[in-house]
Amino acid sequence: MTPPKARDLATLVPPISQQTSCAAVFDRLLAEPETQNIPVTRNGQPIGLIGRQDFLQNYARPFGPELYGRTPVARLMQRDLVTVEGGMSCETIDVRSQDSYGNPVLRPFVVTEGGLYGGMGDTTKLMLVMADLATARAAALQEETHRAEAASRSKTQFLAGMSHELRTPLNAIIGFADLMRLRTFGELQPARYGEYVEDIHRSGLHLLNMINELLDMAKIESGHVELRETTFHPLDIGVDILRMLRQSIADARLSLRVDIADDLPFIHADQQHIRRILINLLSNAIKYTPPEGCITLAVCVCGPDEACGEEGLKVTVEDTGIGIPPDMLEKVMEPFEQVENSFTRTRAGTGLGLSLTKAMVEAHGGKLWLESELGRGTRAHALLPASRIVWERPLRSRAAQRGASPV
Ligand SMILES: Nc1ncnc2c1ncn2[C@@H]1O[C@H](COP(=O)(O)OP(=O)(O)O)[C@@H](O)[C@H]1O
Ligand SMILES: [Mg+2]
Repeated sequence: MTPPKARDLATLVPPISQQTSCAAVFDRLLAEPETQNIPVTRNGQPIGLIGRQDFLQNYARPFGPELYGRTPVARLMQRDLVTVEGGMSCETIDVRSQDSYGNPVLRPFVVTEGGLYGGMGDTTKLMLVMADLATARAAALQEETHRAEAASRSKTQFLAGMSHELRTPLNAIIGFADLMRLRTFGELQPARYGEYVEDIHRSGLHLLNMINELLDMAKIESGHVELRETTFHPLDIGVDILRMLRQSIADARLSLRVDIADDLPFIHADQQHIRRILINLLSNAIKYTPPEGCITLAVCVCGPDEACGEEGLKVTVEDTGIGIPPDMLEKVMEPFEQVENSFTRTRAGTGLGLSLTKAMVEAHGGKLWLESELGRGTRAHALLPASRIVWERPLRSRAAQRGASPV
């Protein structure tokens, strides 16, 4: 169905000339109670309108007939006209106006064909057509939304399936390579296989990490961040992660400082996310700090009066690495953004770590920000809001059995 045009809304109300007397117009309006507007034309072109209400108000005034009876109707006609060409679409007809009090009103409109009078437009019909168009558009949008939701659902299912399909063989590769590199069943012959196995193991871990980041990003982008919240102690996680990263820190010939406040409270958060946040920030520090540099992990509870201006549990990872140029500080937190230089080119990565970290911190109601000085180092802060802090020790906590020293 083609959408209606202006000419479909036109009714052929016989026009009058500007010479017609007001008395004749009055008679006609009395005889045609349905007629709301009479068009006035000259040489076939619309030049004005007689609106029933305005005209009768004037004419019915005391001495109206005596005053206007024989006068040409040009005296009482409205001269500013809305005219639209017959082929115009209804959406482009704009009849909205305001009365002298600023209230919205709809003005009558004249439809023309090549500039000549073609009929009086029907404002009520125009409104009905517009309402139908709006309804059709809303229905189309809703259908589009349903389709997008279905597509997003199948994408998530596909990703869940993919993640299983990819991780299962990779875990086998990593697991067996690990078994071999640890010489679990004896020496490797010839000895050079040892290097290959190391390589297989390292590449497998790298690939697994990349796949995890890509899948996590896809999940976050499709709006599927679910927090599995529990109450736990941040130290438990910190100790675990530092133990895990100790080898890479040593391999990169870096030193590690840990500055953790004594009386850290428990937090209510998604443990898996907090782990990823810490791992991502620490691996960046390791990755982007040249040998002999130093990495510091600091965790504290900060008050509203401190530099960040907010209360909460603040994790800071500081390094003495290559730093980030000031104009890239915000950008590197967007997906796939990386700083291009000779140092970073030798460090493989997806460029997703920081944007994932940011999304996870924000999913907890927190904030992630970076401070950096080019060539001197970087400080990454993740702040969990005060509402995530639990001061009382939860029942059955493992904290009581925790050893005092980290790493
Ligand atoms: N501690 C840091 N020191 C210097 N540059 C960093 C640091 N952390 C992040 N960057 C820069 O930000 C970019 C984005 O980081 P990230 O999202 O973790 O991606 P990736 O580590 O995979 O490159 C990095 O490529 C790097 O250029
Ligand atoms: Mg990274």
